[in-house]
Amino acid sequence: MNSEQLNHFISDCQRRVEAALELTLPSSKTSPSRLHEAMRYSTLGGGKRVRPVLVYATGKALGIEPERLNAPACAVELIHAYSLVHDDMPAMDDDDLRRGHPTCHKQFDEATALLAGDALQTHAFYLLSHDKQMQASAEARLQMIEMLALSSGSRGMAGGQAIDLDSVGEALDLAQLENMHIHKTGALIRASVRLGTLFQPDLDESVVHKLDHYAKCIGLAFQIRDDILDVESDTATLGKTQGKDQANDKPTYPSLMGLSESKERAQMLLEESIKSLAELDERANPLRWIAEYIITRNR
Ligand code: IPE
Ligand code: IPE
Ligand code: MG
Ligand code: MG
Ligand code: MG
Repeated sequence: MNSEQLNHFISDCQRRVEAALELTLPSSKTSPSRLHEAMRYSTLGGGKRVRPVLVYATGKALGIEPERLNAPACAVELIHAYSLVHDDMPAMDDDDLRRGHPTCHKQFDEATALLAGDALQTHAFYLLSHDKQMQASAEARLQMIEMLALSSGSRGMAGGQAIDLDSVGEALDLAQLENMHIHKTGALIRASVRLGTLFQPDLDESVVHKLDHYAKCIGLAFQIRDDILDVESDTATLGKTQGKDQANDKPTYPSLMGLSESKERAQMLLEESIKSLAELDERANPLRWIAEYIITRNR
């Protein structure tokens, strides 16, 4: 991996999506101010922006101009931000710290956090339905909305979160644990890559399938790394409280198979993801670098 090129690509995408989010979210001066403030608080100025980076990287691999990708990049980040707001609430993981700051319900209150999550979610679909810069056909927009809705709902992220809550204190087997991870985290990562491919309706089915397989592998690897970091990292670096999985009695990769086997599994998934990109040219390099970043990142 060329880490200088990767850092450059990531910071470029981060700047791009930050500016687009800043523009699209209602000002906190607009009524209802407290809700808008909570939405902006939970979305702007933080986070690694891995999902938007994947939208832009997929677009780059397929030759799509980045301006067209701002709306889908924002849309997937808005869903992610909403999922974090709700994930941190007392009824779920009960966390006080997110991205180095008090969680939304701590900074505001629980009702505001619930509503901020709701409104961030619907804003994602609003953007996909109307953004002009996308230059997408009505059919392509509909496909993106359908796909993001499925990936976020009970058969995607929200379903994974339900499995997560049902699994507290349970001893899951590997297949059950992977199923939970694939849904709660993998689904939105997969959606990020798929959003990029939907800009090219005539893309060869086998390329779509290979990109999707790449995304499945890194989506699972992403949550394995998240579980590892919860054990190995520290609160200051993570920007969220370290050790919460064990404290909450969550089944995780390290709790099931230990740290070194978890790392081996992430490494295997990295190799499989890279193999899946074999037929793509050097424009797919950012996708290759991101895969490696996902399993080596320290926050
Ligand atoms: C954390 O996601 C929640 C998971 C799905 C594992 P990220 O690690 O992408 O969090 P941010 O967006 O960088 O804060
Ligand atoms: C969260 O997984 C997945 C979501 C859909 C938000 P975690 O609960 O492990 O995420 P963190 O560790 O709180 O960021
Ligand atoms: Mg959780
Ligand atoms: Mg959590
Ligand atoms: Mg976690």
